Amino acid sequence: MELSEAIKKRRMVRSFSPESIPDELIDRLISYARNAPSAGNTAGWAAIALTDQHSMSLLWDAVTDAEWRATSKRWGGLSKAPAAIVMLANPANYTSRYSMPDKSASGLGNPPHGGGEDSWPVPYWFVDAGSASMLIMLGAHEAGVGSLFLGNFRGEKRLKETLGIPDSWRYIGTILLGYDDGNDYASQSVKNRRNNLVFHGRWQQENNKVQE
Ligand SMILES: Cc1cc2nc3c(=O)[nH]c(=O)nc-3n(C[C@H](O)[C@H](O)[C@H](O)COP(=O)(O)O)c2cc1C
Repeated sequence: MELSEAIKKRRMVRSFSPESIPDELIDRLISYARNAPSAGNTAGWAAIALTDQHSMSLLWDAVTDAEWRATSKRWGGLSKAPAAIVMLANPANYTSRYSMPDKSASGLGNPPHGGGEDSWPVPYWFVDAGSASMLIMLGAHEAGVGSLFLGNFRGEKRLKETLGIPDSWRYIGTILLGYDDGNDYASQSVKNRRNNLVFHGRWQQENNKVQE
């Protein structure tokens, strides 16, 4: 599959078949993620692969609650995903890296080199984890496997306790993986809407009808 085709055709899958995906695929997807760009080449993300039903139920118990499961239209389709990759990132890896001699002038390192985590105009640990996640999802699509980036809306503390993740790591989100069972209820219009503002040369206020 051409990269351009994977980029254009990948869409989030929200209803999975319970059929398991090949074990080696998970390793391959994580190896793709290792090729992602990384601020300062810090490579400050970590991934936890969940590949069995028990691990998946621990994930769901941590990041959803009974009320959501009872009312969500998506739960039935999502809950069948046979595998997932939990994405984590550690801000301390970045502040340490940016304390090193070649980066300390940035002011983003730990004191006395910089202001630490809170001084980052853009927290690049989140950006890096996003880039890595995208490679995983494109690689899955190329392999004929569907994916969904499940955001961190709740349950970070519970998930960290459940999976033994040290406190310094942030939970970014989970990439659900599995075969699309074709029952996604989402409408095409929701799926295909793209209203990013794109300009050439400079911001053009007169074309900006959507937002300031
Ligand atoms: C950071 C992030 C968090 C997301 N969280 C969720 C989520 O929790 N549940 C969900 O169904 N989709 C989630 N999505 C998927 C988006 O809704 C989806 O990417 C968007 O609607 C565009 O659709 P497409 O990726 O299929 O083109 C998330 C996407 C991103 C990038």
